[in-house]
Amino acid sequence: MTKKIIEKTSTLTLHSWSSLPSEIQELVTRAKESTENAYAPYSGFMVGAAVLLQDGQVFTANNQENVCFPVGVCAERILLGYTHANFPQIPPIKLAIVARRAAGKEDYATVTPCGLCRQSISEYEMKFGQAIELFMYTPSGEVLQASGIDQLLPFKFEDLNQ
Ligand code: THU
Repeated sequence: MTKKIIEKTSTLTLHSWSSLPSEIQELVTRAKESTENAYAPYSGFMVGAAVLLQDGQVFTANNQENVCFPVGVCAERILLGYTHANFPQIPPIKLAIVARRAAGKEDYATVTPCGLCRQSISEYEMKFGQAIELFMYTPSGEVLQASGIDQLLPFKFEDLNQ
């Protein structure tokens, strides 16, 4: 009997705010500001995302909920769908995510993207052949960094026979 174990290791790095380059501080700040425009009347959980495209443009978006709950869409997919719809040739290279527990309050939660968003991020990485670096804000002001979606979705859907 043959048994083969395929193992992958995931790494997240926790950065203090002051150790982050100003470009990343700005990206996280833009995501934080965008939480205020989230439409989250059902969960009250306001998520903001900001993306840096390879040409230097930054865009933001937030979660948009619906009375029919499954129709609601996360901040990350709204954002990456928008940028790819409008700039289909420009790779997204860095994505910041901030979650706020209530409007106007400095009450943050650490979130990593949900499974659907991970798959969506993976699609754009595959399309451009380039990792999208992720930055996730934590309530202490530190920022969790992942070098790409492989850190969160190590055995993602792909044709392993190629
Ligand atoms: N949500 C996001 O927008 N992004 C995430 O990474 C996690 C969850 C949204 C979906 C829903 O509107 C609310 O947060 C609560 O799950």
